[in-house]
Amino acid sequence: MSSIPLSCSTTIAAVSQFSSRPNNHHKTRTHKFEVRCNSQNDETAPANKIDRRILLLGIGGLYGAANLASADHSPAFASPISAPDISKCTRGTNLNTQQPLDVNCCPPVSEKIINYKLPPVKTMRFRPAAHLAGKEYIAKYEKAVELMKALPDDDPRSFKQQANVHCAYCNLTYEQTGDSDTKLQVHNSWLFYPWHRWYLYFYERILGKLINDPTFGLPFWNWDHPDGMFMPDMFARKGSPLYNPLRNPNHFPPAITDLRYFGQEAADQSKVIQNNLVEMYGAMVRNVSKLEDFYGARYVTGTKPDPGAGSVERGSHTAMHVWVGQATPTGEDMGNFYSAGREPLFFSHHANVDRLWSLFRGLRSGSKPRDFPDSDWLDSNFLFYDENAQLVRVRVADTLENEKMGYTFQKVDLPWLKSRPTARVKKSKAAANSKAANAAETKFPVKLDKVVQVLVDRPKKSRSKKDKENEEELLVIEGIEVDTAKFVRFEVFVNDEDDKPSELIDKAEYAGCYSQVPHKNSTKVKSKIRLGLTELLEDLDVEDDDQILVSLVPKAGGEDITIGGIKIIYAA
Ligand code: C2O
Repeated sequence: MSSIPLSCSTTIAAVSQFSSRPNNHHKTRTHKFEVRCNSQNDETAPANKIDRRILLLGIGGLYGAANLASADHSPAFASPISAPDISKCTRGTNLNTQQPLDVNCCPPVSEKIINYKLPPVKTMRFRPAAHLAGKEYIAKYEKAVELMKALPDDDPRSFKQQANVHCAYCNLTYEQTGDSDTKLQVHNSWLFYPWHRWYLYFYERILGKLINDPTFGLPFWNWDHPDGMFMPDMFARKGSPLYNPLRNPNHFPPAITDLRYFGQEAADQSKVIQNNLVEMYGAMVRNVSKLEDFYGARYVTGTKPDPGAGSVERGSHTAMHVWVGQATPTGEDMGNFYSAGREPLFFSHHANVDRLWSLFRGLRSGSKPRDFPDSDWLDSNFLFYDENAQLVRVRVADTLENEKMGYTFQKVDLPWLKSRPTARVKKSKAAANSKAANAAETKFPVKLDKVVQVLVDRPKKSRSKKDKENEEELLVIEGIEVDTAKFVRFEVFVNDEDDKPSELIDKAEYAGCYSQVPHKNSTKVKSKIRLGLTELLEDLDVEDDDQILVSLVPKAGGEDITIGGIKIIYAA
């Protein structure tokens, strides 16, 4: 068993050689990444870990604090999400049926809670790419899952209880500690990566313990690499404990996974692999120069569920959930949060999401930290049962380095790093000829039951290289209201003059997407997405334009989506 770090000391000039533009433009931005290994997280620890409550009081007393806090609808005394009181768990509900279906996914209650300390790493666990795993490994993994399924249902380590963990945290069965009016949801916010990392961590350790193998690591579904873009064979064999009949029957091998899946098969299958790579490039590189755009929106005590998902979560992650689940409104098992944890493939899907997080942290531009230096994130905490069936409290701050948590990933190529798209039409003033209304004059909210096109003003133009380094230009689509019990998806294109978005999905005009896995909601949810534009505008050669034409193209459930507004902002 070897432990291979993600990748060491390689500097990748990811972009310049793939840009189709003649390289004579002084404003062209290139990404230079240093992929580092064994990086210490000291530099990413909160530099100014001042208690936010004290800070708010210091600025303007109580009154000032209330004013400040109203901006993100969080209470004045913002505090990190704290582990829920699991004894108050209520039933989860699958709302998207004729008759709402109650599901009891509450965990066993335990009086004793241990504050979890990461154990010293003696042997590193190794997570292989599922499609590269050998016979021996697969047999071991099957054995472990079989033993987990054989545990009594009330054992918190049983497969059934492990599946329930996802339902309970993701289907609004818990109230937030400190705000009993608000439900806890770990998706569609900055809790997405760390919560799922802990979930897999204990799942993996339970499996390892059952087969008495401290090196056991979960296989990751390498759907970001062409060789891994199909359901891994080990999950597709009838009779295996890794098999699940509740899947879309059309998506067993050799069907190619579609990271832009919208509930229908892509018209041109020969393009899906390339589209997938462009999707990954956007989600990992192009649209995420600001941390929030990768991780998701701020979420603290009092924040309503679903404030905004990061790029991978709402894009490829959601697509693969829905692609695996049945093509029914409820989408069991993978295509609905209440049932996703019942799908053995879920854990390999999320092992890949987890790996993408580690890769993102390793793709550093200079020495900038790639975690929020914010105690409201780092101090967030959750409860899980560990491999010894003890209830433990775990913190986000302990999740930052997978190696410190005792596992590494098999190293594979990252072809998406070189998949910067080119423009279909490259010319300035393209938006000037459009008859679309200006966003400022458009009456929002608008329903997305058809393609919506608006012109959006750019408050700053002809920005220098330095301006671009200092501030990312972001397209913000806000006040997004959806029926969260349904699968919805829309895509965003810039300067799509000919109104042929289907021809653009692997082109630079594609700016990103919104989509979500069906789940229970409580109140009306208002979400937003932010799409980095700096590189896109260079690719289209429109840096000097006053406006861009934005097309919002509904792909699934458009009649259940409304948009509250569109604007361009600059984030330092
Ligand atoms: Cu908790 Cu991919 O979902």
